Amino acid sequence: MQKLKIVGGKRLVGEVRASGAKNAALPIIAAALLTAEEVILHNVPDLADVVTMGKLLNGMGVVFERLSRDTVRIDASGVTSTEAPYELVKTMRASVLTLGPLLARFGSARVSLPGGCSIGARPVDQHIKALKQMGAQVEIEHGYMVANAKRLKGCNIVTDMVTVTGTENIMMAAALADGVTVIENAAREPEIVDLADCLNAMGAKVRGAGTVRIEIEGVEKLHGVEHTVVADRIETGTFLCAALATRGDVLVTNAAPQTMDAVIAKLREAGGTIDVGEDWIRARIDTRPKAVDIRTVPHPGFPTDMQAQFMALNVVAEGTSRTVETIFENRYMHVPELQRMGANIVVDGHTAIVQGVERLEGADVMATDLRASASLVIAALAAQGESIIDRIYHLDRGYEHMEDKLTALGADIKRIKV
Ligand code: UD1
Repeated sequence: MQKLKIVGGKRLVGEVRASGAKNAALPIIAAALLTAEEVILHNVPDLADVVTMGKLLNGMGVVFERLSRDTVRIDASGVTSTEAPYELVKTMRASVLTLGPLLARFGSARVSLPGGCSIGARPVDQHIKALKQMGAQVEIEHGYMVANAKRLKGCNIVTDMVTVTGTENIMMAAALADGVTVIENAAREPEIVDLADCLNAMGAKVRGAGTVRIEIEGVEKLHGVEHTVVADRIETGTFLCAALATRGDVLVTNAAPQTMDAVIAKLREAGGTIDVGEDWIRARIDTRPKAVDIRTVPHPGFPTDMQAQFMALNVVAEGTSRTVETIFENRYMHVPELQRMGANIVVDGHTAIVQGVERLEGADVMATDLRASASLVIAALAAQGESIIDRIYHLDRGYEHMEDKLTALGADIKRIKV
């Protein structure tokens, strides 16, 4: 079991490079299943979730290897199995992203149902419904989605809610389907645009990604590709929040500011001076940040994946803020941990009211999910004294070498192995 030991109270100052986006890399790695030719991906973050996706593909007979620090090579010419087993799916829900590509290319797939996760029930009914609409037979057998289809057929799909991986699964399945698929009420996340760009570079015909209506004209075959994954807007936003919470001055390079409008607006509202270039963002502040209200909504609104980090900022800010989480039903697990550090937070259903305090105190806290872990790191950096954050495997799922990056910014942070 590994923990992070953080001695807080130091301003973060300096430059840090954003990694590639986990939530773009995972679907794009799954998309490599759509072709028998080689796929080379650059800017792939070195994360536990990427390792899990690699293992999942290896288990299917796919070559998945890291050629360098941020480049992977995938060769799905020799697929021997179209199964995503429970052992891997339960550790990473994004494993369900293999369902669409497997079904489209091989006509069958057996993918474990992910089950619930700590932030909510997170069903995949929309993925299943859409594939059925495209002509697949999908049965639930012993906890697995067992899907079969001779060739999927294009159709019009209106999802009941905006779903990111749902949109991605449908897009990938539709890429090799017969005819045109239209997704209405599609998710508009930048990671969907990146996936569409990669699919199009593989010979797919996807139009409208980044809007609520995506049209995919199926093709017979996709070919190999070399693609660079978009920067991680959530990791970038996490460093920028940490900068403001510690009254610091941080420049994030290799970033994608054009994907971060809602977050940048909130950082400015919090009193930060935010300078933005083509591929960099700098956040600085020399006073106490101001409390900001947050309401999580699908992109281009404020992302649920930044809610916990902004709460860490709000707990040390001046004033009272209101956070409303509309995407996931149980995404306030960081609250009791932040309270252990002295935060003043009241949760009522989907709403959290935070009254900012002058200072937090270091404490022993427990990470409960990926973004909650990030909020605890920010709070610990801002707090006086020492904090120990337990269960940081959650953090390792989605943040590349976080303690090294924070150390370079002047943080006193160490990984301890127990
Ligand atoms: C993705 C992101 C995750 C982010 C989330 C919301 C990846 C790998 N993960 O997760 O980091 O927090 O988007 O921005 O990209 N829903 C259903 N039925 C479905 C699908 C979704 O009810 O079939 C519900 C979910 O329970 C949730 C909401 O729809 O309440 C949105 O979920 P969705 O966008 O699908 O999240 P993920 O794609 O799992």
